[in-house]
Amino acid sequence: MKWGFFKNRKSIVLVVLAIILFALVAEVWAGPPMGHGRRHHLRHHRGHHGQGFAGQGFCPQGRFTVQAPDDILNQKNPLEPSQEVIYAGESLFELEVQPVACKICHGVNGNGLGIMAQGLNPSPRNFTCQETMKDISDGQLFWIIRNGSQGTGMPAYKELEDREIWQIIHYIRQFGKPRRK
Ligand code: HEC
Repeated sequence: MKWGFFKNRKSIVLVVLAIILFALVAEVWAGPPMGHGRRHHLRHHRGHHGQGFAGQGFCPQGRFTVQAPDDILNQKNPLEPSQEVIYAGESLFELEVQPVACKICHGVNGNGLGIMAQGLNPSPRNFTCQETMKDISDGQLFWIIRNGSQGTGMPAYKELEDREIWQIIHYIRQFGKPRRK
């Protein structure tokens, strides 16, 4: 009697385990999360949200960008990379900057594959590419953000205050660091 009860419990446990396992397999099988009630591919989802496309981007990336004048080239970012500064940079980069947010070309993830990146030659800088980014000074980034890169898709952002540009630069540098969030 005792023995039979124990056996029975064991089989209940097994059934429960089997159900959990099935649920797990089914979840993986079903693929990426739903986008507005339809299951579709992550790439597609990002695309229709104007977030650009997932991927590594070009790396290393050839650079033919004009160099900033020496005194600016050697400038270091005067701001501390605090949470607030990086957050401010993020808001500007992803949303607030006029007339077009940086993400439209450089991608939400900074990989250079924003929705407007297609057809741009040279292609927007891939900020996740350490190999290319490590050789670009803060001052150089500053110069190009303010003045644009003549003859390419990179517009000048004359309206941004110095402080805002430095905030954006701290944010951009985050992309090259191992996994944020
Ligand atoms: C319309 C598309 C577009 C938008 C919008 C745009 N960029 Fe770019 N960006 C480019 C392209 C294209 C390049 C590559 C230019 C080159 O190779 O000279 C580039 C290059 C850069 C570089 C690299 C400079 C260097 O010396 O290598 C930086 C930094 C940069 N962009 C920052 C920004 C920031 C910050 C914003 C928003 C404030 C922004 N971009 C908005 C297209 C864009």
